[in-house]
Amino acid sequence: MTKKQIHLNGFIQNSPSPHSTGLWKHEKDHGTRHNRLDYWLDTARTLERGKFDAMFIADVLGTYSVYGDSHEAAVEHAVQLPAHDPTLAITAMASVTRHLGFAPTISTTYAQPYALARQLSTLDHLTEGRVAWNVVTSYLESEAVNLGLETRLPKEMRYNRADEFLEVVYKLWEDSWESDAVVYDREHDTFADPKKVHPINHHGESFNVPGPHLVEPSPQRTPVLFQAGASPKGRDFAAKHAEAVFTKNHSLEALSAYVKDIRERTVAQGRQADDIKVFPMILPIIGRTEAEAYEKYQALQNSVSYEGTAALLSGHTGIDFSQYDPDQYIEDLETEAVQGNLDMYTKDPNRRWTLREAIKNHGLGNGTVKFVGTPEQIADRIEEWASVGDADGFNVAQSYSPGTFEEFVDHVVPELQARGIYRTDYEGETLRENMFGKGSRHLADSHPARRSNLTGQPY
Ligand SMILES: Cc1cc2nc3c(=O)[nH]c(=O)nc-3n(C[C@H](O)[C@H](O)[C@H](O)COP(=O)(O)O)c2cc1C
Repeated sequence: MTKKQIHLNGFIQNSPSPHSTGLWKHEKDHGTRHNRLDYWLDTARTLERGKFDAMFIADVLGTYSVYGDSHEAAVEHAVQLPAHDPTLAITAMASVTRHLGFAPTISTTYAQPYALARQLSTLDHLTEGRVAWNVVTSYLESEAVNLGLETRLPKEMRYNRADEFLEVVYKLWEDSWESDAVVYDREHDTFADPKKVHPINHHGESFNVPGPHLVEPSPQRTPVLFQAGASPKGRDFAAKHAEAVFTKNHSLEALSAYVKDIRERTVAQGRQADDIKVFPMILPIIGRTEAEAYEKYQALQNSVSYEGTAALLSGHTGIDFSQYDPDQYIEDLETEAVQGNLDMYTKDPNRRWTLREAIKNHGLGNGTVKFVGTPEQIADRIEEWASVGDADGFNVAQSYSPGTFEEFVDHVVPELQARGIYRTDYEGETLRENMFGKGSRHLADSHPARRSNLTGQPY
């Protein structure tokens, strides 16, 4: 019997040391070169050498300025700032790779569905079917006020808008152009058959979009849909729409509970439990011996910026930690920012967390679980989280970039391959085929975008 195969994504952002705050100053870090194309091409080549499914490119559209009600700490310590565009290096990276997918983050709160559908369809054409979309609703107040709103929308409204946003893009991607609409009939002077290109006539609460879509069908039509909902509303949204979800946990128990819940919610949406792939985020810290790995962990912590991480955590949780005593316990409350990030430090069944301790944890890999040890030990934990925790794959974060990816690809990937739990070559042509198997180039028929045939048009 073949063993359960795991999938891998490389977690990155177009900023210096975005997920390990302050590591830009580490001797092995090249994140300050995020503004150079060669940094992206090298990173893409490394991930493809390691047979990763995709590069997942996080993004925020504002500064982390909850801390001290100012952007100063974020500027001083490069807290996901500078924050360059997540999509623009993708075509260049696609030109030096053949299989690696690309999953940029784009917010449904600030984009327009008609323009976004065009942008991602164009990328899906140019990458020959290797594009995904990390659907986010955004959490920073600084995003809202710079993008035309008076204040951040309440979470409930953000998700309602996102739900309608997706309905619009599904209509454009799945229903607007029939598969044989483009005929290239030179004799009859016909590029495409107008009877096979349909308006979508969407009229809703947030959007009115007559259509038709501006782009002919791309290899995957709808890009692979990633999401990371953590609140009940966010989880239901993910269960309805996502093909893969990202999660951040610091224990196997927390992961298991999350996976069980998300699969139940997916089934409640009329889909199969395994229609959704779960990718917990991990930070690998690899050594030749266990002792060496733990020494490295200690040393990496010395490069973390305390104030920068406090600013990051303030943005993630919505709490201004400049007002906190470092030895004060973090307060348990409901937040309009990222509830899961706050819950990590307030609902831990094993302990209470002071601000100082939380910062120490959050500074590397944004607080996610660290797999520290030899390649064999890290592979053991990966196997355990995949079998006991029911993870389908892992979202690999970095301490220093792109060195963490290089070490993982050189040392952990061969170990996973030797155990028969990880591919030695790509299976398909498109990203969706690599994730879901050959023949699954398009969304599954059980996905709501396919099931309901939203505009009543033939595909
Ligand atoms: C691994 C991971 C990566 C994420 N990346 C982003 C991102 O790049 N941009 C963003 O605005 N939110 C990002 N988020 C936040 C989620 O989109 C979401 O807001 C968060 O998990 C909280 O869920 P909730 O909104 O349902 O409470 C990420 C979350 C996780 C777990």
